[in-house]
Amino acid sequence: MARILITSAIPYINGIKHLGNLVGSQLPADLYARYARGRGHEVMFICATDEHGTPAELAAAKADQPVENFCAEMHKVQADIAQGFRLSFDHFGRSSSGRNRDFTQHFAGKLADNGFIEEVSEKQVFSITDNRYLPDRYIEGTCPNCGYDKARGDQCENCTKQLDPTDLLNPRSAISGSTELEVRKTKHLYLKQRSLREDLQRWIDSKQDWPILTTSIAKKWLNDGDGLQDRGITRDLHWGVPVKHGTKDWPGMEGKVFYVWFDAPIEYIGATAEWADAQGLDDSAWQRWWRTDMGADDVRYVQFMGKDNVPFHTLSFPATIMGSREPWKLVDFIKSFNYLNYDGGQFSTSQGRGVFMDQALSILPADYWRWWLLSHAPENADSEFTWENFQSSVNKDLADVLGNLVSRVTKFCASKFGDSLPEGGEMDSTDQALIADLEKRLSAYEAAMDAIDIRKASAELRAIWVAGNEYLQGAAPWSVIKTNPTRAAAIIRLAMNLIRIYAILSLPFLPDASAHMMASIKSEDWAWPTDIKSAVQTLKEGHKFEVPEILFRKITDEERSDWKVRFSGVRS
Ligand code: MF3
Ligand code: ZN
Repeated sequence: MARILITSAIPYINGIKHLGNLVGSQLPADLYARYARGRGHEVMFICATDEHGTPAELAAAKADQPVENFCAEMHKVQADIAQGFRLSFDHFGRSSSGRNRDFTQHFAGKLADNGFIEEVSEKQVFSITDNRYLPDRYIEGTCPNCGYDKARGDQCENCTKQLDPTDLLNPRSAISGSTELEVRKTKHLYLKQRSLREDLQRWIDSKQDWPILTTSIAKKWLNDGDGLQDRGITRDLHWGVPVKHGTKDWPGMEGKVFYVWFDAPIEYIGATAEWADAQGLDDSAWQRWWRTDMGADDVRYVQFMGKDNVPFHTLSFPATIMGSREPWKLVDFIKSFNYLNYDGGQFSTSQGRGVFMDQALSILPADYWRWWLLSHAPENADSEFTWENFQSSVNKDLADVLGNLVSRVTKFCASKFGDSLPEGGEMDSTDQALIADLEKRLSAYEAAMDAIDIRKASAELRAIWVAGNEYLQGAAPWSVIKTNPTRAAAIIRLAMNLIRIYAILSLPFLPDASAHMMASIKSEDWAWPTDIKSAVQTLKEGHKFEVPEILFRKITDEERSDWKVRFSGVRS
């Protein structure tokens, strides 16, 4: 059994995330974590809130709250919603934690000791109207690379290029819209990413198995002419990790903080240490996941993120780690995602467009969303949420295929044989054929899950459900029972065992439905069905069961059109 470290990009603190954010990092990370646990691996699944930076400050100001209180409250809100979606983090940390502060200051100190930090007197945009420096994303303007006119000071959303605010053409304040901006001089620390270019190149070239989306973005910014730039890692803000050299003051940097994108990925480590603290464990408990001198070279480390996050995880964060010249664990596999669009346009947090996580849960249980989102994950291209597609996928896949199978089997068994599995009868060639088919399909499902090929995996899982339905249809116990009751008993015993197998295999996608299925056949045996032949005979004659409540209800046409209207506008 392996040890697998899984991190999801950590969501910003400044608001509730929409379904596009969810499917781009937290949800697929949860899928993989649940699968890996199901296969018996030791998993550490980490996420956190990304709490620093101007977005947090401004959102707090808007909510008329001190930023510390705002973050504490929003962390709780996000943690509850994550729980609502059954995201099974081992720890959901906070980038404003003391642990992350210490690690961030530690890395900066090491980078400086190793010659990878430069002090630069730089020009920074000051907004006279707003009476403050305007860092990164609070300056908008035209992207010098692609001409997009709503590029932000930290990155162009359109072409993914990492930017510095002063790169923008026709800049304006995103806070007030004012163009009364002036450039002032201030001193900042720069991470000399260019000096680490060859290390990064060699490392990325060694990752032959990474998804094309990940490597193409990484290579683009590594190789394109001025691709890899030295990056400013400090800001003139109050809220953030104070700039220090390890535990010592950093002369000339008083009153400044690290840039949010410097400390955020370090929180992957920070949150693992927070986990150890919360468990009352000592440092070796997190170090065995992160320090290759403490056993972490046995760990497989997988990251999940949207494509806009890829440059930070393939270049900046690895540069931080490599430049420390300490034995920290580097990521082994980066799964990245395109964007999910919403009903003919884009999901947008700033414009409140689309369905947000809390709204989704207010109309339907988590499994319905999990299934649609994962089976339509934007892996190879952007994908689109429409209410029609959502309705048909829920009604067909969940209600007609999986739900129907469970309900038909349990109801038939209850009505003909009572509250336990019947005895008698032998397997026949129909059963053998199903076993052979399921063996093949199970390997295909496992292969897709191992490769984190999510749409493929969902299609394989669905095919496994369909195979069960077809088996039942062909074996037709409801007519066989009239002439050959013992054969009908054998069929229904096998079908009851399918419910248990399906609960195990479906758990990564549908945690609640799987738990209900398992409860209805009154089993607690979640062992992965490595051997289908024995798995279809696990529950024996006399084993008690219960007919479950309906697993999935159908979405009506009326609901669909109501929701379409209700979520067509802008969230207030
Ligand atoms: N908060 C960022 C976002 O939502 C992601 C940060 S990921 C990490 O896009 F690497 F910084 F942690
Ligand atoms: Zn651009």
